[in-house]
Amino acid sequence: EHPVEDILDRLCATVADYPAPGVSFKDLTPVFADAEGLRAVVDAIVEPFVGHFDLIAGIEARGFLLAAAAAYATGTGVLTIRKAGKLPRETYAEEYALEYGAATLEIHTTDLAPGARVLILDDVLATGGTVGAAARLVERCGAHVVGIGVVLELPALGGRAALAGRPVHSLQRVD
Ligand code: PRP
Ligand code: MG
Repeated sequence: EHPVEDILDRLCATVADYPAPGVSFKDLTPVFADAEGLRAVVDAIVEPFVGHFDLIAGIEARGFLLAAAAAYATGTGVLTIRKAGKLPRETYAEEYALEYGAATLEIHTTDLAPGARVLILDDVLATGGTVGAAARLVERCGAHVVGIGVVLELPALGGRAALAGRPVHSLQRVD
C-alpha cells in the first residue's frame, strides 16, 4: 500500500494557467476517481481526529465528497455547509473574501446540537476564507470545531494563519 503522499504525487493533476494565466491549478478529480486514492485520502484526512468528533461537516462542493465518505468510514453523520441560497430552513450565514468580491456560506441553525464536536473537511486550503467561514458557522451553532482536514494546503496563501489556531491537518503542502 502506498503512503498517501505518493498517491497524490501520482494522481493529482496540475493544470497550467487555470483558472487564470499564471495560476497552477491542482485538480484532485483523478485521486477521488481512483479506488485506492479515495480510500487513502479519506483514511488519512480523519486519522488525527478519530474518536474526537461527533459529526463531519463538508463544504460545498468539493468538500462534500470527502465528508460523506469520511462520515461513513468513521460511523458518524455528515452535515452540509452550503453556498448561499441552497438550504431550505433558517440559516446562519458567513461571508468570506474571494480574489474578486465575496461569497457566503450557510448552515442550518438547528442541524448541530450545542456542544457537538465537529470535524470540517474540504479539498484545498488556500487563503482560508472558505474554511474560516465554515468554522465560524459551526461555532455560531454552539458547536466546537475539533479539527479541519484538507487534502492540499497552499502555504504561500496563508490559510493556516487565517484560522486563528484551530487545528489544521493537511495531507500535502504545495508550493
Ligand atoms: C475552492 C476549494 C476550497 C476553496 C479554497 O472552492 O474547493 O473550497 O476554493 O480557497 P480559500 O482557502 O482561498 O477559501 P471553490 O470556492 O472554488 O468552490 P467549489 O468547491 O464549489 O468548486
Ligand atoms: Mg471548495
